[in-house]
Amino acid sequence: MSLKITVIGTGYLGATHAAAMAELGFEVLGLDVVPEKIEMLSAGKVPMYEPGLEELLAQHVAGIEGSSGRLRFTTSWEEVGAFGDVHFVCVNTPQKHGEYACDMSYVDAAFGSLAPVVREGSLVVGKSTVPVGSADRLAELLPEGAELAWNPEFLREGFAVQDTLHPDRLVVGVRSERAEKILREVYATPIGEGSPFVVTDFPTAELVKTSANSFLATKISFINAMAEVCEAAGGDVVKLAEAIGYDDRIGKKFLRAGIGFGGGCLPKDIRAFMARAGELGADQALTFLREVDSINMRRRGHMVELAREAVGGDSFLGKRVAVLGATFKPDSDDVRDSPALNVAGQIHLQGGQVTVYDPKGMDNARRLFPTLGYADTALGAVRGADVVLHLTEWREFRELDPAALGAVTAERVILDGRNALDPVLWREAGWTYRAMGRPAA
Ligand code: UDX
Repeated sequence: MSLKITVIGTGYLGATHAAAMAELGFEVLGLDVVPEKIEMLSAGKVPMYEPGLEELLAQHVAGIEGSSGRLRFTTSWEEVGAFGDVHFVCVNTPQKHGEYACDMSYVDAAFGSLAPVVREGSLVVGKSTVPVGSADRLAELLPEGAELAWNPEFLREGFAVQDTLHPDRLVVGVRSERAEKILREVYATPIGEGSPFVVTDFPTAELVKTSANSFLATKISFINAMAEVCEAAGGDVVKLAEAIGYDDRIGKKFLRAGIGFGGGCLPKDIRAFMARAGELGADQALTFLREVDSINMRRRGHMVELAREAVGGDSFLGKRVAVLGATFKPDSDDVRDSPALNVAGQIHLQGGQVTVYDPKGMDNARRLFPTLGYADTALGAVRGADVVLHLTEWREFRELDPAALGAVTAERVILDGRNALDPVLWREAGWTYRAMGRPAA
């Protein structure tokens, strides 16, 4: 008989995981403590923008015409306990207020509610990103007869469905062959397609996630540090990245210089990793992450300075600044720790009249920064602007017509914070184009 799966927490990770498990053929029950989320998901609606996710949900949520009916949602822990052979814990672990460490309260609460209701023989699988050592501690909370495994998630926003259905690797921390066997059964389809399946202990599984994200953050800050040097020396970081990227030991991915990384993962994960290493007495090993973090934050300030220079040098007072992009990356509506909004906010707080446009992030941006100006289109945002800032590399912005934009701005000055626009195109249309880590003309 096929395994029955539950997914605890239906945010980014959980909603995607639940839909993917149903797609793989399992009966799935998703739980969230927020009733509104459950209502939405039960109607086949996704509380955030993620390409392909709503379509996938609609194919499986029970009660939707033509669906497989394999996916249901609930707020009842009893129902979850009675239903599941395998319980995936997918709640979030944000940064603690005023501290580097991560806030484990949602994970702890989930285990607290799950432990009393799990059936004998069931497997609880942690997917949340947690400080190393958490799994050992959480295992103690489960009743005898239930077992824990740790299976970190590597999904990228914007590619969440693809990354979950066709992961580039599966990592499972287990304490028994039985747990490994169950997880091989859950992931039989991707394993069959060739996804590597790495079996390890709890601490290693937890560390794989934080070290992977630290490596990615380091790669981005490395190229942004090179951008700083290029700016000082008159070099071109885009050419430099291309040239070093041909060395396949280095690789060309994650070498896009600009205003740096943001989002709900990389910034908080490197900070939580430093905090945890400190607790373990291994803080020296990760002091470089402090530098990675400051290089990253410095880029945001640098963009503000470039913008100030572009509007005349001394102040933003009375200047109109158009900001294209609010989300932390394209194909997402997520504005958590978004470099784009951070820059927009700084300029606004310094007296600039900022107007923001983003293809999907407007509602979330408005909620976070209600005092910024917003426009419904890119053209609307740049109308009358003294400078245009390109801060999130949506395809829509690459396809803009520089001549059409230039017809409505006050000045034809564009600063490319993502090194994603074609300088030749913009300069040919009479724009002053400047980008980070590249020569001025
Ligand atoms: C990241 C990890 O990639 C993923 O494996 C993990 O599971 C969760 O965290 P995500 O937060 O969705 O995923 O975003 P990612 O694609 O990694 O981008 C993070 C940030 O880095 C974005 O703000 C992006 O704009 C920036 N970035 C990325 C750069 O500035 N330059 C690059 O070359 C690449």
